[in-house]
Amino acid sequence: MAYSPETQAIRLQTRRTAEMEHSTPLFLTSSFVYHSAEEMASAFTDDSLDINIYSRFSNPTVDEFVTKVCTLEGAEDGVATGTGMAAVFSTFMTFLSQGDHILSASAVFGSTHTILTKYLPKWGIESTYFDMTRPESIEALVRPNTKMLYLETPSNPGLDIIDLALVGDICRRHGILFVVDNCFATPAVQQPIRFGADLVIHSATKFMDGQGRVLGGVVVGRKDLIHELYLLVRNTGPSLSPFNAWVLSKSLETLFLRMDKHAENALHLAKALENNPHVSRVKYPFLPTHPQHDIAVRQMKNGGGIVAFELKGGLEAGQRFLNALQMISMTNNLGDSRTIASHPSSTTHSKLSETDRLAVGITPGLVRISVGLEGIVDIVQDVEQALGRF
Ligand SMILES: Cc1ncc(COP(=O)(O)O)c(C=O)c1O
Repeated sequence: MAYSPETQAIRLQTRRTAEMEHSTPLFLTSSFVYHSAEEMASAFTDDSLDINIYSRFSNPTVDEFVTKVCTLEGAEDGVATGTGMAAVFSTFMTFLSQGDHILSASAVFGSTHTILTKYLPKWGIESTYFDMTRPESIEALVRPNTKMLYLETPSNPGLDIIDLALVGDICRRHGILFVVDNCFATPAVQQPIRFGADLVIHSATKFMDGQGRVLGGVVVGRKDLIHELYLLVRNTGPSLSPFNAWVLSKSLETLFLRMDKHAENALHLAKALENNPHVSRVKYPFLPTHPQHDIAVRQMKNGGGIVAFELKGGLEAGQRFLNALQMISMTNNLGDSRTIASHPSSTTHSKLSETDRLAVGITPGLVRISVGLEGIVDIVQDVEQALGRF
């Protein structure tokens, strides 16, 4: 019987052991034993054997987490990594070689930007940025050596949205790998593979964990591609710890419920901010004023848990706002049950030049709120009292 994704997120579980546990077991072990020397030898000679050898290669708890993400994203296979950045970097290292070119949205996470501009050139890999808000400009940037197109939608922190089906079509016609960082939406809100993505990346650290406890990453997609990625991860070592995989897999049981509530709270806060005299602009995918609202409602189930807004007073106002908050946490993570406020231009994106920041919509007064699961009255009240002190 084919269960719904909501059910699979809860019921998919490692085969029950002889102990008859109800909650999923945690295989906290570095390696696995063999029944005989012959079995041990064959584990190393026959790659096709479905056998656990060493937890850098595979581990049942990590496999459970990956299988769940594959099911939710509609992917054939997947690989887990120790962090989201390990997932991004391993994907680049597996599929890009010297002389290749990658087309990336300019509005990408700060560390991804650093890999593209600081590290990939060291290995002779070129990158070009495209403007997510001008998808019609993408095709002209494709070169004969373009191997990969990379983007986030919604983007961090500007919440730009791009039409995944449109980009998927360009990539298919040009034979380019289409890679989407789906961290902000999660598969409970958007499944990029349905729109033509070949690989989907997550920082599981965010909404997948959902409670700000562990780091993790995962890449899912086509089986042949994932096999290549698996070999890189297995040999170079950015593997996910079984303990973190156990935490993440348990968290996925509540992913759908949480994302619905994050989105409900976020929409409420976004609407409240629209009427605030200290705020010049509010951005939330499911607000009709969002420039790509029509695309958002087409490809997303809800607007997700992140709201961005612009304070009239610029950089100084951004820092004053954070200092005035009483309940909301001042920290750089996102996707937590606790509401978090951050100020990208003085923190996560401070290494970018002012021009680069402005090009991706990170203005000095931009504040990003990762809306949590607290009572919405308390969230709105804290934001409004902080704004009220201006
Ligand atoms: C969109 C996005 N991608 C990737 C990452 C990197 O993930 P991690 O911190 O787990 O390495 C982040 C982290 O904030 C992110 O927001």
